[in-house]
Amino acid sequence: MKLSRRDLLKLGAGAGLTAAVGGLEPIAAQFPGQAMQMKTIPSSGQQLPAIGIGTRNFRSQDAELSVYRETLATFHRLGGRLLDTSPNYGDSEDVVGGILRDLGIRDDLFVATKVDREDREGGIRRMEESFVKLGGDDFDLMQVHNLRGTEVQLETMKAWKDQGRFRHIGVTTSSENQYDAVEDVMRRHDLDFVQVDFALGNRSAGDRLIPFAHDRGMAVLVNLPFGRGRMFEAVGDRPLPEWAADIDAKTWAQVFLKYVMAQPGTVIPIPGTTKPHHAVDNVGSAMGRLPDARLRQEMEELMDTFMA
Ligand SMILES: NC(=O)c1ccc[n+]([C@@H]2O[C@H](COP(=O)([O-])OP(=O)(O)OC[C@H]3O[C@@H](n4cnc5c(N)ncnc54)[C@H](OP(=O)(O)O)[C@@H]3O)[C@@H](O)[C@H]2O)c1
Repeated sequence: MKLSRRDLLKLGAGAGLTAAVGGLEPIAAQFPGQAMQMKTIPSSGQQLPAIGIGTRNFRSQDAELSVYRETLATFHRLGGRLLDTSPNYGDSEDVVGGILRDLGIRDDLFVATKVDREDREGGIRRMEESFVKLGGDDFDLMQVHNLRGTEVQLETMKAWKDQGRFRHIGVTTSSENQYDAVEDVMRRHDLDFVQVDFALGNRSAGDRLIPFAHDRGMAVLVNLPFGRGRMFEAVGDRPLPEWAADIDAKTWAQVFLKYVMAQPGTVIPIPGTTKPHHAVDNVGSAMGRLPDARLRQEMEELMDTFMA
């Protein structure tokens, strides 16, 4: 039986989750009168919270399904909407799709997935499978994963967008050696989104790709905003700098995420997390103030000393 969120709340399960990890109320209470930072997708005008969630590590062999479920329930309850996955992440699409159905939140979320095949038929099969696994009649965003078969996949994706199966389309990379090729694709195709790796400790995409996306009217999803955890290792147990209070950052994670979402243009980090308390921390980064250009430079200089 499919349980909607309303059913779960009726059963009291929602209340249990709220008690376990803390709800939106405590976060909002820390920022009286302040709403969540929102971003506008240039091509469609749709508004999204400035923080998403990546689900690369939602794999059933980890036997943590109840924790993943609580992570997504927490993310959603706190106001998170954008979720990124891929058929390339083990059985993440199956796991995520099952949880979204179970919680009855599929239609609330902005679901982004990817296609990771070189050939046309393989790409079509893969995208049809994603519909079955993740549910729904359309996807908010379909992306070519790491530029695999870009030209043939974009042809199908554009046709399906015209048919209303995809609301937005884009391409992804997480590797600097693909930046020139990504820029070339951005120049030749009218994409809605591009996804790149970018972080306070990994700023190459900020030199050209992110400003170019802004010029071309494309939104940017930022993967690896924590450098897969390397940023936490670099700061170690150092206390937060005094300026963290000026941008309402209470943790290093919030410092890293606010740095990303404060970039000019529509730039939305999608930190990967499998933990409810990290979902609380990460969604909290979209509350309160963001660093201006002067402070962002100070943040960069400090991070460079940590990573030297
Ligand atoms: N080419 C591509 O298209 C591409 C490539 C890579 C990634 N992606 C997408 O981008 C997403 C993000 O990348 P990623 O997950 O590889 O790397 P990431 O976001 O840089 O880092 C994830 C790591 O940070 C930890 N973490 C999350 N929130 C935290 C917090 N508040 N405090 C401390 N640690 C925290 C996570 O652990 P826990 O799980 O324990 O929270 C995990 O170990 C992926 O999930 C995927 O959706 C796309």
